[in-house]
Amino acid sequence: MISIVVACATNRVIGRDGGLLWRLPTDLRRFRELTTGATVIMGRKTFESLPDAYRPLPKRRNLVLSTDSDYVAPGAEVFRTLQEAINACGGDCFVIGGGQVYSAALPRADRVYLTQVETTCEGDAFFPALPEHLWRCCEESDPISENGHEFRFRVYDRAA
Ligand SMILES: NC(=O)c1ccc[n+]([C@@H]2O[C@H](COP(=O)([O-])OP(=O)(O)OC[C@H]3O[C@@H](n4cnc5c(N)ncnc54)[C@H](OP(=O)(O)O)[C@@H]3O)[C@@H](O)[C@H]2O)c1
Repeated sequence: MISIVVACATNRVIGRDGGLLWRLPTDLRRFRELTTGATVIMGRKTFESLPDAYRPLPKRRNLVLSTDSDYVAPGAEVFRTLQEAINACGGDCFVIGGGQVYSAALPRADRVYLTQVETTCEGDAFFPALPEHLWRCCEESDPISENGHEFRFRVYDRAA
C-alpha cells in the first residue's frame, strides 16, 4: 500500500523557504507512530530540510528521490525515479513530501493521512487537491489546538 502523510493548510500550502510553517508536536508524534518501522520516500529538498538529529529519519528505511545521479544522501538510499523507489520497497511505503513528490505520488497512492491545519498562509510548496470523486474521507479526529493552530487528522481512501 502506498500512503501519503502530509500536513496542509486550508489553501493547500505545506511549506515555505524549504521549511514548515507550524510546530505541532501532536502531529509530529502521529507522523512518528505511522511511519516508524516502515519505508519512507521523500524528495531531495525534504531530506535536506530535516534537522541533523532526524536525517535520516531514525528507525525507518529512508528513500530519497533526486534526478542527480551523483547525489549522495548519508543514511538513505537515492533513487532517480518514483517508480524505482516504489519497486525497491515492494510497494509498501509512506510518501512524506514535499510538494513535488506528493504531486508525483498522489496518482499512485491508496491512502492519504492528512493533517488539516485550519489556517491560510503564504508558501511555495503545495499539496494537490483531493477531488471528491476520487477520494473519500473515512476518518476525522476532533479538532486539536496547539501553538496557536487548530488542526484535525483526516484519513482519505481512494474511492475510485
Ligand atoms: N507539511 C508537510 O507535511 C510537509 C512534508 C514534507 C515537506 N514539506 C515542505 O515541502 C517543501 C519541500 O517541497 P518541494 O516540492 O520544494 O521539494 P521536494 O519534493 O521535497 O524535493 C524536490 C526534489 O526532489 C527530487 N524529485 C522530486 N520528484 C522527483 C521525481 N519524481 N523523480 C526524481 N526526483 C524527484 C528533485 O531533486 P533534484 O533537484 O536533486 O533532482 C527535486 O528537486 C519544504 O518547505 C518542506 O518543509 C512539508
